[in-house]
Amino acid sequence: MEIKMKTYLCTGCAGFIGTSFVHYLLKKHDDIRIVNLDALTYAGNLENLKDIEGDERHIFVHGNICDEELVRKLIREYDPDYIINFAAESHVDRSIANPEIFVNTNVLGTVNLLQRAKEAWLDGREWKKGKKYIQVSTDEVYGALGPDGFFTETTPVNPHSPYSSSKASADHFVKAFHDTYGMPINITRCSNNYGMWQFPEKLIPLMINNAKNHKSLPVYGDGMQVRDWLFVEDHCKAVDMVAEGGKDGEVYNVGGHNERPNIFIVKTIIGQLSERLNDPEINEGLIKHVEDRLGHDRRYGIDPSKIKADLGWYPETTFEVGIVKTIDWYLENQEWMDRVTSGEYQKYYEEMYRNRK
Ligand code: NAD
Ligand code: TYD
Repeated sequence: MEIKMKTYLCTGCAGFIGTSFVHYLLKKHDDIRIVNLDALTYAGNLENLKDIEGDERHIFVHGNICDEELVRKLIREYDPDYIINFAAESHVDRSIANPEIFVNTNVLGTVNLLQRAKEAWLDGREWKKGKKYIQVSTDEVYGALGPDGFFTETTPVNPHSPYSSSKASADHFVKAFHDTYGMPINITRCSNNYGMWQFPEKLIPLMINNAKNHKSLPVYGDGMQVRDWLFVEDHCKAVDMVAEGGKDGEVYNVGGHNERPNIFIVKTIIGQLSERLNDPEINEGLIKHVEDRLGHDRRYGIDPSKIKADLGWYPETTFEVGIVKTIDWYLENQEWMDRVTSGEYQKYYEEMYRNRK
């Protein structure tokens, strides 16, 4: 009997976490195929996938998750076992400035994927065997915590920012497709990720880049907001385990109990960089407390007991090790950073894409 190669339709995998996920899967499995659908917004970067160019297991498709015809065609052509949706507008500050695009991609894009999957996978009342939709969501849908307690999967969804509201809305649609039509789904809700390939609008790469260049380090408000940091590869491991073993219809929180106030992160980066580069100009004098983000969530903290107990997931990289690896990567990939911050990367991947066609 012929055994079909497992096929993943993964969206948004030219971005930070998706890039890492594609690398993770290709390292782990020989006999898979990943169709990577990405619109290449400012946050998507084909340069991230340059090292796997020519690997036939990875098929890049330039396109939008809101495109009905394209998504229908991809599902028909590749018959994926899993659809894993990473694609999103992901930056809270941008969502405060321009919420509409967050509704388009995060809500309407998700609904389009669900609709096209239902169209292909539901026959009468029977769902095709072995198919599953996985939504990569965020702990931010739960809102903010006080000084104590953690988010569990039963914490009520209570988002505050336009970003987290759009992600929460998408989660509700995913659950609705499960509850209404019986679609096989999982939702993962992970805490803040850090690691290589993260666009330098997010706290850690922004601070690394600014400190290295002796630019000021903008800390919002008092800097005592707490985020629960997870090394990106540990998140990828969790998504893979949920795809393979997650119980139908379940939500899984993902986090490594690594809660740190923002100011601690910034000071850690300053300490590491000044020592490694032997540069006394990288010091805490660069810190500049600026006006706080509107509606800024004070604290996030994940209780990961369920994914640990049910699937045996655990984080492998401590913050102390992960932050050093991350800083090393940005120091070794200065050209990537320069291209990304100058907008050069847009030209770079357009050129690469043109050459490929
Ligand atoms: P990112 O912004 O780095 O990457 C997003 C990717 O999606 C980019 O490659 C972009 O080109 C693509 N994209 C955007 N709009 C698209 C569209 N309409 N159609 C197709 N592709 C589109 O984001 P990230 O940090 O890698 O986050 C990935 C997912 O993980 C998101 O769903 C995010 O909500 C979730 N998440 C992120 C974090 C985090 O700390 N970064 C934590 C938990 C969950
Ligand atoms: P960010 O990386 O944008 O992730 P999120 O908002 O999804 O948690 O921000 C992490 C924390 O760092 C958040 O509390 C906001 C804060 N922050 C700053 O203080 N200064 C900055 O320049 C940025 C980008 C973030």
